[in-house]
Amino acid sequence: MPNTQQNLFPSSSSERNKMESLLGQKSVVIWFTGLSGAGKTTLGRILRDELFSRGFIAQMLDGDNLRSGLNKDLGFSVEDRIENIRRAAEVSKLFMESGIISINCFITPTEAIRAMARNIIGKENLLEVFVDCPIDICQQRDTKGLYLKAKEGLINDFTGVNSPFEIPQYSDIHLFTHIMHPYRCLEVLMEYILPRITYHKTGK
Ligand code: ADX
Repeated sequence: MPNTQQNLFPSSSSERNKMESLLGQKSVVIWFTGLSGAGKTTLGRILRDELFSRGFIAQMLDGDNLRSGLNKDLGFSVEDRIENIRRAAEVSKLFMESGIISINCFITPTEAIRAMARNIIGKENLLEVFVDCPIDICQQRDTKGLYLKAKEGLINDFTGVNSPFEIPQYSDIHLFTHIMHPYRCLEVLMEYILPRITYHKTGK
């Protein structure tokens, strides 16, 4: 019986280097964590657009998007959130190994779940960004009307209401979206990210 756990075609770091050389960029996974309504998707989009305008190739993975396709079999129990993030981490690792920058926007609510993602992707390949916003502001924004539904008891296990969100302990960047304009957040992000993704040709 073949060992199904083993990857028959493991991608090597030299393949990644070749892809990065072809694309003229270094790849990384940028992982936004934070409450629903904190601004992860907004920041992910403006970061992606800024990277595009500077000639970088990036792919965005978002909780709402993935949950309508690849992860549509998953809900919001602890087990399903673990599986949601496991798949997202594996997919973004494939992008990263192909030289593509991955921008991941997921609540990623607990330290255990974040640690799992970190283990899959590798700490050296990951930039963790805490998109921090007080829950009362997220509730006021309630862009999708979900906080109201959670308050009315129509949604169970809603993060921050009746399901936990643990403050990230290991984030590389901490953004306060209730006091920082999205474009100020973008400046902070770019300052950190640009040196990580700039490709330096090594002479032959
Ligand atoms: S995670 O916890 O598994 O990381 P993910 O980021 O994929 O969550 O999905 C969060 C999005 O799903 C929210 O932005 C919201 O639009 C929607 N959602 C629906 N039900 C819930 C719920 N019970 N808890 C949190 N988000 C929910």
